Amino acid sequence: MGGVGVLNVDRVLISADEIDAKLAEMGRAISADYAGKDLLLVGVLKGAFMVMADLARHLDIPVEIDFMAVSSYGGATKSSGVVRILKDLDVEITGRHVLIIEDIIDSGLTLHYLMRNLRVRQPASLALAALLIKDGIDRPPLDIAYEGFHIPPEFVVGYGLDYQEKLRNLPYVGVMDVEE
Ligand code: IMP
Ligand code: MG
Repeated sequence: MGGVGVLNVDRVLISADEIDAKLAEMGRAISADYAGKDLLLVGVLKGAFMVMADLARHLDIPVEIDFMAVSSYGGATKSSGVVRILKDLDVEITGRHVLIIEDIIDSGLTLHYLMRNLRVRQPASLALAALLIKDGIDRPPLDIAYEGFHIPPEFVVGYGLDYQEKLRNLPYVGVMDVEE
C-alpha cells in the first residue's frame, strides 16, 4: 500500500472517550475558576479547533471565543522556532481574562512567543490550557494551568493534529511513524 492519500496510524494513543472524559474534567476546573468572570477563550489554529469545540461544550459559564493562527512548522515535523502571526485576535484583550487553548505543547516555542505577545496587551489574566504535553522535551518555562495528557515525545496525529495537513479529523490521538 502506501499510495497517494493512504496514511496509516500505527496505534491509538488516546481514545475519543478518554479525551472527552479529560475535557470534562478540565471544563469543570475552568468553570469553577472563572465563575463570575468575563472569560475569553483563545484557540490557536489550526490544531486547537477540535479541543476548543469540545472543551467549550464542557463549560457552564458564559465565555467568548476567538482564534489566532500562528505558524511555526512550515510543513516539517520539527519546530523551527520561527513564529509568525497569520491571524491576530479580532478583539482587544486589555483588562480581560484570557485563556489560551492549545492542542499540544511540544517545543513550547509557539506558546512562549504567543504568551509574551499577548502579555504586552495587558490582559487582567493570561493562562494556558493544553490537551497534550510532550514529556522529555527541553522547553522554556511555561505555566500550564490546565493540563490534559502527558505523552511520550512521539509524533502524534488526529484530534486537530496533522501530518502534512491531513488526519486532523480523526476523533482520537494516534501515533504514526514519520521518517525525519
Ligand atoms: P511547539 O513545538 O510547542 O511550538 O508546537 C507548535 C505546534 O506544532 C503545535 O501547536 C502543533 O500544532 C504542532 N505540533 C507539535 N507537535 C506535534 C505532533 O506531534 N503532531 C502534530 N503536530 C504537532
Ligand atoms: Mg497548534
